[in-house]
Amino acid sequence: MKQAYHYLFIVIFLMQFNAVAQEVVEKTTVIQNIESRDITSLKGLWQAIVDPLENGYYNHRYLPKEKDGYFENKKPQSPSDLIEYDFDSDIELMVPGDWNTQMEKLYYYEGTVWYKKSFDYSPKENQITYVYFEAVNYEAIVYLNGEKLGSHIGGYTPFQFDVTGKLKEKDNFLVVKVDNKRRREAIPTVNTDWWNYGGITRSVHLVSVPKSHIKDYSIQLEKNSSTQITGWIDLENSREGEVVKIEIPVLNKNLEAEVKNGRANFSFKAKPKLWSPKSPTLYTVNISSNDDQVTDQIGFRTIETRGSKFFLNGENIFLKGISIHEEAPFKTGRVTSKEECIILLKWAKELGCNFIRLAHYPHSETMVKEAEKMGILVWSEIPVYWTVLFDNKDTYQNAENQLVEMINRDKNRAAIILWGIANETPESDARNEFLKNLSLKVRALDQTRLVTAALDTQSSEEGGKVIDDPLGEYVDVIGINHYCGWYVDDIESCAGVQWKNNYDKPMIMSEMGGGALQGLHGDKNERWTEEYQEALYESNIEMMRNIEFMAGLSPWILMDFRSSRRHLQRIQKDFNRKGLISEQGVPKKAFYILQDYYLNENN
Ligand code: GCU
Repeated sequence: MKQAYHYLFIVIFLMQFNAVAQEVVEKTTVIQNIESRDITSLKGLWQAIVDPLENGYYNHRYLPKEKDGYFENKKPQSPSDLIEYDFDSDIELMVPGDWNTQMEKLYYYEGTVWYKKSFDYSPKENQITYVYFEAVNYEAIVYLNGEKLGSHIGGYTPFQFDVTGKLKEKDNFLVVKVDNKRRREAIPTVNTDWWNYGGITRSVHLVSVPKSHIKDYSIQLEKNSSTQITGWIDLENSREGEVVKIEIPVLNKNLEAEVKNGRANFSFKAKPKLWSPKSPTLYTVNISSNDDQVTDQIGFRTIETRGSKFFLNGENIFLKGISIHEEAPFKTGRVTSKEECIILLKWAKELGCNFIRLAHYPHSETMVKEAEKMGILVWSEIPVYWTVLFDNKDTYQNAENQLVEMINRDKNRAAIILWGIANETPESDARNEFLKNLSLKVRALDQTRLVTAALDTQSSEEGGKVIDDPLGEYVDVIGINHYCGWYVDDIESCAGVQWKNNYDKPMIMSEMGGGALQGLHGDKNERWTEEYQEALYESNIEMMRNIEFMAGLSPWILMDFRSSRRHLQRIQKDFNRKGLISEQGVPKKAFYILQDYYLNENN
């Protein structure tokens, strides 16, 4: 009898888990370009309850509570009432923000935290209202006024719920169960070389749009054309035959397109000044429908490869890059403001960069938009990192979903030229299949950008390295992570390493580098000194000068960042020290070696 109960329990549990996974996949595309909408921010202090046993969600039989969960935000109605939680007398956490750097006791915390925000809101007549989350790490289950709205997994992409008709004039309460527990089948999986910052890490907004509104759009140059602008506009609740207008005042463009089945397609001739690092020209584009109007700043550029070279707007370009984690300068923890984005980007510019690799997950929309304004090309990727479960179909669906959400959010950003589908994944048939499918998904969604992945599978042969990973077949650009002088080989030997590429495709040295504690000085063969890192950069640059198919690089990394794999307390103190700048903004000697290479050699 007891055994029967066990089986029943396991079946119910698996059904619950599958329901959540299924639910995520069916979510609609989020509204495009949140910034230009009528939004009410919910940022600021939220009440929170730390719930390691998920007591607010599961009952003592470990079955999800239908009622009496913390999502009801209940208050005792009489002195005898038993309510064993109270948001309003518990802790407070800042949103946006990770919880780990806000409270000493949450520094290592991984698990569930309940967030609650109370607010008044006057829903507008004939409007649809969405609650829009820019990102929550990792799993979010969202409730409004005690009613479940839905859930989302993936810590770095936006999601929304329609709350029209669910809002009251006064005392609404939005409750979010946030769980950043690491799971083997998740994306990323259980081990990453970055801190698993948990929380509502990016902003939350109430978005009010007309019933019939501009939900999504794509506007860019046709592949390999610098004079044909093409795209589409999706209207929610459109009227058949409705006409939408696309206006680009500076180009004196003003055209109309008819909506069929909710979408208006268009294509027209134009001579835009092309966006490039030297002149990051953006055009004001106004899109209007009967009831709605959206404005975006869009750049037009073409990007392609020919053999092992990149061509931006038909001109060969070398990508002078740097890798960046979404670690905030000075205060550390997740980046939460435009100012912090601009500090990181200015440092990259100071280094002489025209390119950045945003590792290992989609960074904020603000980071991408600010990079675009500053004329910095972008590699954006999803956290298919190290050894995920390549033969698990839910893991694949999760990865593909994060990919789709990333591309949907940033498809109108000229600055993004590369979609990264994986980092340092071990070769296997399941892995090749998994990544091949992701690369095909990118191509189905976006024919104008390039697909890449960062590999560490280069084979060794006499005096050199060979790029022969089968994945090279499915990507347009091959990223290589190679730590000569740090994880492999001696510094002195790096300059002499020869490289071969089995593919007639560009290679980006997507990671190279070594650690140094800022301010620690000594002999150049003494690890952790600035002199060691400096010498390592000199010899690696020497090696890279001789790689004729190398079309760019993004050394690891702009700034020291927190990682729970870095325990050498006298040096690392939980930080990966491969930054060229310390987390307190102080450049190390190697910063100037790379700067010199970018400003005086590859310009
Ligand atoms: C890897 C990995 C990075 C990591 C780096 C390091 O290549 O991609 O995420 O931080 O190496 O070891 O410093």
